[in-house]
Amino acid sequence: MNGPESEETPLRRAVCPGSFDPVTNGHLDIIARASRLYDVVHVAVMINQSKKGLFTVDERIDLLRQVTAEYGNVKVESFHGLLVDFCKQRDIPAIVKGLRAVSDFDYELQMAQMNNGLSGVETLFVPTNPTYSFLSSSLVKEVAAWGGDVSHLVPPLVLEALTERLGER
Ligand code: PNS
Repeated sequence: MNGPESEETPLRRAVCPGSFDPVTNGHLDIIARASRLYDVVHVAVMINQSKKGLFTVDERIDLLRQVTAEYGNVKVESFHGLLVDFCKQRDIPAIVKGLRAVSDFDYELQMAQMNNGLSGVETLFVPTNPTYSFLSSSLVKEVAAWGGDVSHLVPPLVLEALTERLGER
């Protein structure tokens, strides 16, 4: 026991949700920053069955686990359903999202308000590192598919997986 911060102090939890198809340096930056603010950060790969990804959910989880291994308090999981239910089941009061530009804001605000109305969960927006303000998984896939260099935009492991997957096509 260390004074008021006893074993009974509940862990502060947050979730970083997304499709992560695949994880980029922009996602990693947000996850790393969240991991410094919370005791436990759940990275939730949300399953959208109507969207066929380049990587399977298991492959995305595997890549995420490897590239977040250095953060001892990050837990990678997948979920099929509403984000608020993921949060409820794990007693997570906060969603952490990166905001790249004002163009992100409209939809992110709608989701934040919907999620708050559904369950009271709060959304905290973290301004994206300007280095990654243009970055998205979709653009990375498109550029890589046409042979463009994305080595500065994704971790080396993801680059390897992308090159291999796109080479199979
Ligand atoms: O990486 P993405 O695709 O921009 O992430 C969007 C995601 C997965 C976070 C969002 O679509 C989501 O939360 N989906 C889970 C289903 C859900 O809760 N929908 C209602 C949102 S208000």
